[in-house]
Amino acid sequence: MIYNLHPSILAADFKNLGKEIENVVAAGADGIHIDVMDGDFVPQISFGMPVIRSIRSATDVTFDVHLMVSNPERYIETFVDCGADILTIHAEATRDIENALKQIRRTGVKVGLALNPGTSLSTLDYVMDDVDMVLLMTVNPGFGGQKYIEKATRKIKALRAMALNEGRELDIEVDGGVTEETLPTVLEAGANIIVMGSAIFAGDAAALTGKYKKEIEDYSGNR
Ligand code: DX5
Ligand code: ZN
Repeated sequence: MIYNLHPSILAADFKNLGKEIENVVAAGADGIHIDVMDGDFVPQISFGMPVIRSIRSATDVTFDVHLMVSNPERYIETFVDCGADILTIHAEATRDIENALKQIRRTGVKVGLALNPGTSLSTLDYVMDDVDMVLLMTVNPGFGGQKYIEKATRKIKALRAMALNEGRELDIEVDGGVTEETLPTVLEAGANIIVMGSAIFAGDAAALTGKYKKEIEDYSGNR
């Protein structure tokens, strides 16, 4: 299993975005988590296509694009064209999950499906074959800097067990409230793609990326 750290630029200093990305990549970030919010699926509006297109030239690392957007099927090809390497849509945001996932599959990028904290894992029952990654929200989506929802730990464990049961090395991404305190919990529960926003960008982003990357490597190497 590959363990990856994806800093979320939602918490970055936007006036220095290119530099912020270069710093965390140089410090060992495996990908950049990019939160697109539309003001409808979630209350806030973050940023969209022109910003992603522009930062694409800053780095070759994986662009992990998390669409918190209603009816995301409207934009799938466009976000791929902007430079997404993993494209994740929310199960709650589309009327036809299966077709939306197949639409992402046809573009050739990795297919992600996100579930809000209150959405059951049973949502995955008939679409597991269509996804490469499941993003488990560990806060309610819409804002950075929220507190990790403890109940999510049980859900991460249950999803890892489900994947093992199917003989799959499913990528499980956790997003929201992952900090120095909760990082060991999510790793232990079975997550392998770790998103950290404010835990990285609220301080010395390069130093913190190095520190958390090492913690993740120590954990995965000791298994
Ligand atoms: C929340 C976003 C997250 C956010 C995480 O809706 O999807 O990616 O940036 O931020 P932290 O790590 O600060 O909770
Ligand atoms: Zn996110």
